[in-house]
Amino acid sequence: MAKSKTPKQKSAAAPAKAGKAGKPAGKSAGRSPQPAASPAPESKAPAIDIGIPDKDRKKIAQSLSVFLADAYTLYLKTHNFHWNVTGPMFNALHNMFEQQYTEQWNALDDIAERIRALGYNAPGSYAEFIGLSSIKEEPGLETAPDWREMVRQLVQGNEAVCRTAREAIEVADDGDDEPTEDLLIQRLQTHEKYAWMLRSLLQ
Ligand SMILES: [Fe+2]
Repeated sequence: MAKSKTPKQKSAAAPAKAGKAGKPAGKSAGRSPQPAASPAPESKAPAIDIGIPDKDRKKIAQSLSVFLADAYTLYLKTHNFHWNVTGPMFNALHNMFEQQYTEQWNALDDIAERIRALGYNAPGSYAEFIGLSSIKEEPGLETAPDWREMVRQLVQGNEAVCRTAREAIEVADDGDDEPTEDLLIQRLQTHEKYAWMLRSLLQ
């Protein structure tokens, strides 16, 4: 994101960065598990030197991991509801959910690969996603909510992804990581649009 900033006044001795307006760095920074550096410090591969200090790359990778977990959980819930939706809105919702989960699925790869480009491992298991995500899963095998409840959950899920994206954008901005900001801003725009479209069904 192209933002006008005053010249860097960051000090190595400065305490943990606060976000905009004095907010603490995103909640994502405190969630576990932490991503592992890749290549590991003892590796013979060249050390990563893309102009972002390792300390910042790690914070950004951690917040991106939380974002990936939220985005993946919302993707899965949207696909679940595509399968299990019933009622008079079936055709419209079955197709709408498919469009959304397909687009979300394609975006997951870019998020995970950005974590790798920053030199950290990406989470890739259900257990890791559950541990990192702020979105509650919805089981579908034995029971499924009615279509209004599905839409309501997807509004909330898309809004949760938006909040996590905003936190991660702050962390990326603190590290002057424009590619990550650009990626997250695109995802934010899309999930804000999905939240609007889904909410409109309930009005
Ligand atoms: Fe399908």
